Amino acid sequence: MSASVRLRAATIDDLARLRHWDGQPHVVASNPHDDWEWERALRDAPPWREQLIAELDGVPVGFVQIIDPAEEVSHYWGDIPPNLRAIDIWIGESAYLGQGYGSRIMHMALERCFAVPAVTAVLVDPLVSNLRAHRFYQRLGFTPVERRRFGDDACLVHRLDRATWRPPAT
Ligand SMILES: CC(C)(COP(=O)(O)OP(=O)(O)OC[C@H]1O[C@@H](n2cnc3c(N)ncnc32)[C@H](O)[C@@H]1OP(=O)(O)O)[C@@H](O)C(=O)NCCC(=O)NCCS
Repeated sequence: MSASVRLRAATIDDLARLRHWDGQPHVVASNPHDDWEWERALRDAPPWREQLIAELDGVPVGFVQIIDPAEEVSHYWGDIPPNLRAIDIWIGESAYLGQGYGSRIMHMALERCFAVPAVTAVLVDPLVSNLRAHRFYQRLGFTPVERRRFGDDACLVHRLDRATWRPPAT
C-alpha cells in the first residue's frame, strides 16, 4: 500500500524543524535569499497565508506555503489581480526527494487552492536556474509566463489556470 500523505497546519512546535529544513543545501539552493522569519510567521495566522507541513505516514517531510499574492502584506508580487494563489514547496528531508512525494503534495496543495471557487489560477516562482523545479511544475500542468526579479532572485514565474488544471485520477 502506498504511504499516506497529509497536509496539516504548521505551528510554533515546527520551529526547529523548519529552521533545520530551510538550512538544507537543496532548499538553500532553491531559495538562497529569503528570510522566512519562522518564529514570527508561525505565531501569526493572517487570512492571506497558509503554512502547511506535509506528513508521510505521520512523519513530517516537507513544507508548503500558499498565499494570496494580492493580499500578502509586503506586496512582493507587486500589482497583481485578486483571486490568485502562489505556492512555495519543498521537501525538507533530502532522503525523501525524487520519490513522487512532492508531486502528491503539490496535487493536494492545488486541490486546496482550487477548492475556493473564486480562485482562477495558481502561480509559482522558481529560480530561472532551477531547471528541475521547472520540469516538476510543468509536469503538473504549469506554463512559464514571465521572467521576474524578486529582490536578488531571478525567477521564472509559472502559472496554472483553473481551466487547465487536471486533478489526479482517484
Ligand atoms: C521540487 C520538489 C518539491 C519536488 O518534490 P520531489 O518529491 O523531489 O519530486 P517528485 O519525486 O514528485 O518528482 C521528481 C521531480 O522533482 C524535481 N526534483 C527532484 N529533486 C529536485 C531538487 N533537488 N531540486 C529541484 N527539483 C527537484 C525534478 O523535476 C524531478 O524530476 P526529474 O527526476 O525528471 O528531474 C523537491 O525536489 C524539492 O523540495 N526540491 C528542492 C526545493 C525546490 O527546488 N523547491 C521548488 C522551489 S520553487
